[in-house]
Amino acid sequence: MAALEKMFDVRGKSVVVTGGASGIGRAYAEIMAEHGARVCIFDIDPDGLSRVAAEMTAKGWDVWGQVVDVGDRPAMAAAFDAVAERHGRIDTVFANAGIDPGPGFNTPTGERNPDGAIENTPDEQWDRGIALNLTSVYTTVKNAVRHMKPKGGGEIIVTSSIASLINESIVGTSYMPAKAAVNHFVRHMAMELGAYGIRVNAILPGPFITNIAGGRLRNKADRAAFESQSLIGRIGDVEDIKGLALLLASPAGAFFTGSLIVIDGGSLTRMT
Ligand SMILES: NC(=O)c1ccc[n+]([C@@H]2O[C@H](COP(=O)([O-])OP(=O)(O)OC[C@H]3O[C@@H](n4cnc5c(N)ncnc54)[C@H](O)[C@@H]3O)[C@@H](O)[C@H]2O)c1
Repeated sequence: MAALEKMFDVRGKSVVVTGGASGIGRAYAEIMAEHGARVCIFDIDPDGLSRVAAEMTAKGWDVWGQVVDVGDRPAMAAAFDAVAERHGRIDTVFANAGIDPGPGFNTPTGERNPDGAIENTPDEQWDRGIALNLTSVYTTVKNAVRHMKPKGGGEIIVTSSIASLINESIVGTSYMPAKAAVNHFVRHMAMELGAYGIRVNAILPGPFITNIAGGRLRNKADRAAFESQSLIGRIGDVEDIKGLALLLASPAGAFFTGSLIVIDGGSLTRMT
């Protein structure tokens, strides 16, 4: 095998991607499956999941899906067990599903949005943001480790956000503290799990065009402010995340653990 191929070899790996029916998670599933991994996508959207899984299997890739809500702990445990049963093991887990609990206190064009003001935020909205951006990552990691420890190792890659490091006024308030806590959790898990051969890292994307927040970044006017923050004149396309995902999941990434890796076209550099 060529040296380059060996470095990025993920063939035969058993992979789970949460929130893999769309956007960044879909890109993770694609890059792993295209390179010979066996991928199970967990997603709450049954139609999106069956469409995406069918598109990938039509390419000859080993991909299947389970309809799971990452906020449902018993369902998550059962879904992980089903992957281990079918693949014989679990090697790599992308804890990716997340939501914008929205709205933020500003509109994308900079006016105040009373619906996003702290005093008007429904408690359920706060709770949902924490449940699906933070507690869900805990649940995912817990189940991943349950299967990785007995086999002697694995890789966990968590999708955080640059909103863990800076504040975004158009995003629902609980998103920022949830993602900041995710970063801390990732580093804590890396400390706990390194001795068991389990590497834990976070990817911190800047703005990427996906379906999050109703796909608002597909709208040119809504993404203009984000484009102007980029140092390379554009925001992210999900294709941009594939190389980093493959790096962290392959032998080439063997020395990464506890890392919080920003991928944002330089937006954070301009802002801080
Ligand atoms: N798009 C961005 O600009 C951006 C920037 C930084 C971080 N992120 C993060 O990237 C991750 C993926 O978001 P995306 O932008 O690809 O969004 P997306 O909406 O395109 O994809 C998210 C996927 O997660 C699924 N999902 C939502 N709630 C779920 C639940 N309870 N259980 C299981 N699946 C669920 C959705 O059905 C969807 O398929 C999130 O953690 C998000 O916070 C996105």
